[in-house]
Amino acid sequence: MEIAYYQNKFIDVDSPALPIDERGHQFGDGVYEYVRVYDGTPLFLDEHLDRLEKSAAEIKLTLPYRRDEITGIIYEGIKRSSLKEAAVYFQVTRGIAPRNHSFPNVKAVFSMTVKEATIFTDEARDKGISVMLKQDERWANCFIKSLNLLPNVLSKQEAIEKGYDEAIFVHEDFVREGTSCNVFMVKDGTLYTPPATRHILHGITRKAVLDCAREYNIPVREQAINTTFFKNCDEAFITSTSIEIMPIYSIEDQILQKERPVTKRLYSAYQSFYKQEV
Ligand code: PDD
Repeated sequence: MEIAYYQNKFIDVDSPALPIDERGHQFGDGVYEYVRVYDGTPLFLDEHLDRLEKSAAEIKLTLPYRRDEITGIIYEGIKRSSLKEAAVYFQVTRGIAPRNHSFPNVKAVFSMTVKEATIFTDEARDKGISVMLKQDERWANCFIKSLNLLPNVLSKQEAIEKGYDEAIFVHEDFVREGTSCNVFMVKDGTLYTPPATRHILHGITRKAVLDCAREYNIPVREQAINTTFFKNCDEAFITSTSIEIMPIYSIEDQILQKERPVTKRLYSAYQSFYKQEV
C-alpha cells in the first residue's frame, strides 16, 4: 500500500496535502532524499540522512525533526506500507508562509512518500541505455540535493524527445553527471568518474561503487573527463539509488562494446550490499 506523510501525520497519498503557500511549491525552497528499501530494510539510510543534513545546512534550513525522529517516521512509513521493495522519497521545505523571497519565521515542513520501487529486469540491464550530451545550465551548487530540478527535468525530456534514454551534463567539454544519476567509465581496466566537486551530486551509489572497485582492486581515478575520452571508453555506466548500476550502450553516435566485464563485476559486488549472497 502506498503511504504518504505531510507535516506531522500520515495521510492518504491522494489527499490534497500542500497548502498553496507551501514554499516547496512556490519556490522549490527545500531539499530532498530518495532511499531504496530492499526486503523491508532501507539501504544506506545513515548516508542519506547525512546528506540531508548537509543539504539543509547549505541552504540554511533547520530540519523540523531530530535525526532519530526522521528515522522513526521512515521506518513507520515502511511498516505501514507493508512493501518489501520500496522507494522512499522525503522532502524538507522552508515551510508555509505568504509568498515572500526572504525566509519566513516558521517551522520547516517534512513530507514523505513510500511507494513500490521500480525493478529493472535483467534484460533492461543487459541492453543498457543510450545517452546524449547536454550543456550543463544548472547552478553552481549541484552537490546540494535541492528540490529545484527544472534543468534536470527539461534535459531528461529533451533526451527522450531526441530518442535517447538520458542526458549527461557537460561543461566546457568536461563530463559532469546525468539528470538524476552519476556517470562512470572504464578504460584499459581503470574506473573513471568525475570528481565530487560542487558541480555534481555526491551520489551515495557513486561512493558505494568506488568502495566496491577498491575492494576488487580495480584502479580508480576521480578526475576531470572530457567528452572525447568518454566517447572512446571501453565501458560506461550510470549510478543512482533507483537504477543502481546501469550500463550505457551508446553515447550519441558512438556505440560502446557489448562486453562489460568491469561493470558486471561491480554490479555483482554492489548487490552484496543488499543481498545475503551474491
Ligand atoms: N537522484 N546526480 C543527480 C543529479 C541525482 O539526482 C541523483 C539521484 C544522483 C545519484 O545519487 P544517489 O546515488 O545518492 O541516488 C546523482 C535520485 C535517485 C532522484 O532524484 O530520484
